[in-house]
Amino acid sequence: MVNLQSRSLRVYADALEYLDQTRLPQAEEWVRCDSPEAWQHAVKRLAIRGAPLIGLSAAFVLAQYAARHPQSEWQLVSDRLRATRPTAVNLMYCLDAMEACFAQGADALAERAKALFEEDRALCQRMAERGADLLASGDRVLTHCNTGALATAGVGTAIGALAIAKQRGIDLHVYVDETRPLLQGGRLTAWEMADLDIPYQLITDSMAASLMAAGKVDKVMVGADRICANGDFANKVGTYMLSVAAHYHQVPFYVVAPYTTVDPACATGAAIPIEQRDGAEVRGATGAFGGVVWAPSDAPVWNPAFDVTPASLVTAWVLDTGVFDSAAIARGEHLRGWR
Ligand code: MRU
Repeated sequence: MVNLQSRSLRVYADALEYLDQTRLPQAEEWVRCDSPEAWQHAVKRLAIRGAPLIGLSAAFVLAQYAARHPQSEWQLVSDRLRATRPTAVNLMYCLDAMEACFAQGADALAERAKALFEEDRALCQRMAERGADLLASGDRVLTHCNTGALATAGVGTAIGALAIAKQRGIDLHVYVDETRPLLQGGRLTAWEMADLDIPYQLITDSMAASLMAAGKVDKVMVGADRICANGDFANKVGTYMLSVAAHYHQVPFYVVAPYTTVDPACATGAAIPIEQRDGAEVRGATGAFGGVVWAPSDAPVWNPAFDVTPASLVTAWVLDTGVFDSAAIARGEHLRGWR
């Protein structure tokens, strides 16, 4: 029996099933995950991805492990899960919350994981409504990577705002950055736009600046993997480039995220750990994406999964707790009441 379900996660009593995001849009394939090792493998290859979803799925894996193994092993497993992807702070948020329940036993862990899942669903709804408030009929919105229902327990973050706008009858046109090197935009966001019945056009990342120069972009909306105390934030590589182009062309640039993506302990973007990934992802399409290698097979590669956008290039931070401009961020208003 499925206890909880989102667009890309099914939670059973003793295992998870995830929608393999490397197989979309060609196939909707659900894969069983019943161990920390299986989860780590899925997260490393981005079959489970997106900051909130990584954290929530880790919480369930830990709770299910705890139900079958002695308490003396729980911390070690939590440490291993935590080290799987370093940049998205939602993973740390969820595991911190789980570890705080260790003393109360395995049942408390199961309840905590469920509460985190339900919390994320509510946070998505709140931030997406705030994001939709910023949108008007006729807006042409550019987005990057995938920030929708696939990446969260609810409607998503930046895509969540687009989805709520659609529900409100606001007519949008969305430009979807394909998002190199792993094409989360081309494969997943395009698929979600079709699912939501939102008109869209797919572009390569390198087309975004000239699209803005042509006056065809009214707003940029992206998600985040970690927002620092000063408002700098990490998101999928290519976001920084978009923010620079948006600033130059005076296009409003919004970041949409839950408070669980804010890391008050990270003073500035310089402190965010950036995951480096295998060069094969840049040399060609890795296994799930066709396996074609177009670069010399030994071409040296620099492949950071994320980049940092400085606060100075952000128009507003759209959180579940409010919409903050740079003056509010400088006053630390986004940190008030945090945790
Ligand atoms: O490497 P990914 O696909 O996990 O990167 C995802 C992103 O960068 C998203 O924009 C971010 O996690 C926000 S998702 C709601």
